[in-house]
Amino acid sequence: MPAKSPVIVDLRFHPEQVREGLKHAFPGREVINRADPQHADRDLSGIDYAVLWKPLDDLFTRATDLKVLFSGGAGVDHVLTLPGLPNLPLVRFVDHTLTTRMSEWIVMQCLMHLRQHLAYDRQQHKKIWNALNQPEAAELTVGMMGMGVLGSDAARKLKVMGFNVLGWSRSGRPVEGIEMYSESGLDEFLSKTDILVGLLPLTADTANIFDAKLFAKLRKHGPLGGPVFINAGRGGSQVEADLAEALKTGVLKGASLDVFQIEPLPDTSPFWTLSNVILTPHSAADSDVSALFAYVEKQIDRFERGEPMENLVARDAGY
Ligand SMILES: NC(=O)c1ccc[n+]([C@@H]2O[C@H](COP(=O)([O-])OP(=O)(O)OC[C@H]3O[C@@H](n4cnc5c(N)ncnc54)[C@H](OP(=O)(O)O)[C@@H]3O)[C@@H](O)[C@H]2O)c1
Repeated sequence: MPAKSPVIVDLRFHPEQVREGLKHAFPGREVINRADPQHADRDLSGIDYAVLWKPLDDLFTRATDLKVLFSGGAGVDHVLTLPGLPNLPLVRFVDHTLTTRMSEWIVMQCLMHLRQHLAYDRQQHKKIWNALNQPEAAELTVGMMGMGVLGSDAARKLKVMGFNVLGWSRSGRPVEGIEMYSESGLDEFLSKTDILVGLLPLTADTANIFDAKLFAKLRKHGPLGGPVFINAGRGGSQVEADLAEALKTGVLKGASLDVFQIEPLPDTSPFWTLSNVILTPHSAADSDVSALFAYVEKQIDRFERGEPMENLVARDAGY
């Protein structure tokens, strides 16, 4: 039996977790962790697989015989724009640990805006005892833009909490229990939405989609006193000058932002200090490295058995 192909691991996140996770990953295969200096001069030709996230510049010029690429994250915009990217099957990371974390973050943000967490936080710091208006989830509609693996799961969990949930996607493909809209129905979808959630991949079509014109179409007089914007997809989808202006002028009542045009978020960004913004550092749903390696192993097994791999990226669509 021929020796199993080694795997190149070229990940620019959580180096300690990667090192630890690799102790038990890919049994029977050599693993070349490019964060490890001992592999700096290793010949990378003749290797079939690479797991990557923001890889070193020379990956594709040195690993010239790759057969499959595995994205270290669910989003692939960073991969698809890599210089010299070879035209190979690209598998993105889909795993229940990531999906569950994202849904936790989305549900938490919706509830924080529903239950006026920012206002209570301000009151607490001023020692003010004052109960605020308390609408029920059922009085609000959450509009989810992006109804893929992550959006569908979050939508289902928001429904359990009692929110009305609408979904919007490119195809408008049915999702059980959710009223769906496709591209042509965007304006109607927005006009019914109190809390807008972005869980879109960054593509040519979704870049800068969240702009002043779109924010102005959201439902204005809902129970929260104005619409709320939540984005955990990609920062490249939001026009940040428009978003900041909408938050300052009351077009938007509030926002929860996990992703930004530039990350880490520069000190000069207005989002750090706007009192109606909840901000997290692109941490809504991290990739669990042990789950990532187990997932890649599974996909390699499928590939070597001649079975189709799961979650292949459609290059032309960009996700
Ligand atoms: N903040 C974080 O920590 C974090 C973590 C993981 C992922 N993410 C982001 O979340 C994104 C979504 O992940 P996923 O796994 O849910 O992706 P997915 O399964 O590929 O779903 C993408 C969804 O977006 C829709 N879509 C794509 N282009 C569109 C367009 N032009 N107009 C309307 N809808 C469009 C798709 O429509 P169809 O259903 O019609 O195809 C689909 O519903 C990732 O790409 C990544 O950027 C963020």
